[in-house]
Amino acid sequence: MTRPMRGRTCVITGASGGIGLATARQLKALGAELFIVGRNPDKLAAAAESLGAQPFQADFSSLDDVRALADAILATDRPVHALINNAGIWHGSFKTSRDGFEDTFAVNHLAPYLLTRTLLPRMRESGGARVVHVSSRLHTQAGQTSTLRGRAVHAINVLGLPIAAVPARFEEEKLDRREGFRGLEAYARSKLAQILFSNELARRETKVTSNSVHPGSVATDVTRDSKLLSLGMRIASLALKTPDQGARTSVYVASDPSLEGVTGRYFANSKEAKPAAIVHDAELAGRLWNLSADRVGLER
Ligand SMILES: NC(=O)c1ccc[n+]([C@@H]2O[C@H](COP(=O)([O-])OP(=O)(O)OC[C@H]3O[C@@H](n4cnc5c(N)ncnc54)[C@H](OP(=O)(O)O)[C@@H]3O)[C@@H](O)[C@H]2O)c1
Repeated sequence: MTRPMRGRTCVITGASGGIGLATARQLKALGAELFIVGRNPDKLAAAAESLGAQPFQADFSSLDDVRALADAILATDRPVHALINNAGIWHGSFKTSRDGFEDTFAVNHLAPYLLTRTLLPRMRESGGARVVHVSSRLHTQAGQTSTLRGRAVHAINVLGLPIAAVPARFEEEKLDRREGFRGLEAYARSKLAQILFSNELARRETKVTSNSVHPGSVATDVTRDSKLLSLGMRIASLALKTPDQGARTSVYVASDPSLEGVTGRYFANSKEAKPAAIVHDAELAGRLWNLSADRVGLER
């Protein structure tokens, strides 16, 4: 068996369970050295032990935690050849992060934005480094709940089926709005933000590639915050992918030799896929870059 990741160091966030743990396992089998990130210390320790990986604990609801995580990774003096921004959540009700931002956007977008930008200098030195953003097909439904038809589709389509009622929109004005908060709406917006960030990074960066993926609809704990959605997940679980199957596209994009130099693309089922048209809006992506930089305290 060829081991294309031999001698290469991978940072995988959200690797204490679900798709992230399976991603780490598969990258390990390809020869990678693993730095795994998790929030829950017990789950993280168990995962690190089973993988022979170095664990890093951080809560992405806190930008200080993300800064400390980046510092700890940089302090190892190891190269970073792949960063898999996999940690993600959705919430059934409105919550704010420790920094006062709506928590879905904070965990799914602001934290990986800060981590990626802080690790970039090390990744540039590492040679042939890749950032993989684990987004979701649900990004195609961002902004659709404002329309009647979109609302209906949104309500039934928790599995991210390829239905697009109206073109996706990034509703910047709703970012931190408590009134009328809908978890799925915030989740879809955060997943769209991840792809806009991935594409903007690809436009700005010459030494590190940046691509986004949809892992498929996978039986995991991602709906843990919503009893209804968790029940739906359990009922649908036979029809869903396993975490191992869900990890394959992330692993492919992080490691496949054929993707050397390929950047700014979106993948599903281990091949290039068609995202919502809005992800190609460079003006919007530039605005989101600046907004995110201001929020996390980095230069634009
Ligand atoms: N499952 C699906 O059908 C599906 C579909 C499309 C996209 N995705 C995306 O795939 C990624 C992985 O999700 P999953 O399905 O594997 O979910 P999961 O089983 O719930 O795993 C999520 C991971 O993210 C970590 N995490 C959650 N909140 C965090 C926080 N505040 N700070 C740090 N880490 C945090 C969790 O850490 P702890 O367990 O240690 O708290 C866990 O390791 C997510 O980005 C999700 O949006 C999933």
